Amino acid sequence: MRQALELARRGIGLATPNPYVGALVVDASGEILGSGFHTYDGLKHAEVIAIEQAQSKGISLNQATLYLNLEPCCHQGRTGPCTQAVIASGIRHVVTAMRDPNPLVQGKGIEQLRAAGIEVTEDILHDEARKLNEAFTKYIRWNEPLVTLKAGMTLDGKIAPPPGESGNPTPLGSSGGWITSETARAHVQELRHASDALMVGVGTVIADDPMLTDRTGLPRRRPLLRVIVDSRLRLPLESRVVKTAQDDVLILCSFAEERKKSEFEARGIRVEQVAVAHTASAAERSDKVTRMPSRRRTGTGAPVISETATGSSDGRPDMRSMMARLARMQITSLLIEGGALINWAALAAGIVDKVFLYYAPKILAGTGSVPFARGVGFRHMGEAAHVRHVTIHHFGEDFAVEGYIRDPYDFGAALKLE
Ligand SMILES: NC(=O)c1ccc[n+]([C@@H]2O[C@H](COP(=O)([O-])OP(=O)(O)OC[C@H]3O[C@@H](n4cnc5c(N)ncnc54)[C@H](OP(=O)(O)O)[C@@H]3O)[C@@H](O)[C@H]2O)c1
Ligand SMILES: [Zn+2]
Repeated sequence: MRQALELARRGIGLATPNPYVGALVVDASGEILGSGFHTYDGLKHAEVIAIEQAQSKGISLNQATLYLNLEPCCHQGRTGPCTQAVIASGIRHVVTAMRDPNPLVQGKGIEQLRAAGIEVTEDILHDEARKLNEAFTKYIRWNEPLVTLKAGMTLDGKIAPPPGESGNPTPLGSSGGWITSETARAHVQELRHASDALMVGVGTVIADDPMLTDRTGLPRRRPLLRVIVDSRLRLPLESRVVKTAQDDVLILCSFAEERKKSEFEARGIRVEQVAVAHTASAAERSDKVTRMPSRRRTGTGAPVISETATGSSDGRPDMRSMMARLARMQITSLLIEGGALINWAALAAGIVDKVFLYYAPKILAGTGSVPFARGVGFRHMGEAAHVRHVTIHHFGEDFAVEGYIRDPYDFGAALKLE
């Protein structure tokens, strides 16, 4: 199963919006007769590739075992049901790591195999398998991308030195040096590689002029979609994102002035209007937010909605509408990379599933430096976003905290206390 999971991982960047699946056909003596992993463009499912390879050797598979990390499908999709291929192959024993979260399958594939007299062993390396396909699960079950909030910070939670300081000029200037080390930033590249889309606020482009690309050099079937949230199309035409756009930049705005819109479109950049936020979630100055009722439990994923709001808005695009829009583009995973206002807007809207927070052992201090999430923030410990199932990753003297605000397998429900 470990090998099947390894094979499945080779589909990262290539399988989306489908799941990562790896498969091995092994004979009674443990010899591998066939193996495969799924890629979207390759069409064939992993178990079919492995079975066909084994069959091409002309050996009977009556004593063989099929290992695969995801329950075989039993429905007609772009290919026929894999359960039929498994049953027809004569394989005797199937070992899986998890059931298919797709509501069309969810255990029915396993039932079909058992009904055909095949022995099935389930849930081997279950947790690892679930983690690998968490984005697919969120997307297929809830029709929204898995949202990961990523930031690089000092120990005291600052994501940048004071803007406009010397060595840190804006607009479109350099950002006063990196906070985290090269190894930590190389890891961020891996996160980007495993994501379908990346999102920043226009403020980050104006401050840092980042490229926002996947520079791992690893193959991917669709370019990383670079999403800029920009209410009134302030994105500078001379920014690197605009200059390097190749059908991979999307601006989500609330007001699309025709002339500006066509300037972007002439450069191959898509501009889409999104419903305006009614939550006032991002407006730190909004008194609607300061009057937010304290019983709202945003840490459990519920949106912060002012009950006193009159339906007016801060004029910024609504986070939930943006997620729905991205899902319609088959975006299964979104990496939010700030800055301070977007980070708070995402947390306040309750769209964040997990965090990947990188820390360098440095302290910036001061009120001028940029905090991780700028806004009114949560007003009580009971409202605080609670990050659970934490894993610490080490990168030299830097470290990252990976954890979940919401369980992608049980969307809407808070993670259960252990
Ligand atoms: N260390 C890190 O990991 C990291 C990562 C990124 C950025 N940064 C730092 O963060 C700083 C920039 O932070 P920032 O807060 O100015 O930029 P930001 O969060 O990237 O962008 C904020 C802008 O996004 C627009 N926006 C559109 N929709 C929004 C919504 N729903 N909620 C909130 N804003 C929305 C707003 O402009 P409109 O109202 O015009 O739309 C807003 O001014 C820079 O100093 C940068 O270096 C650090
Ligand atoms: Zn299948």
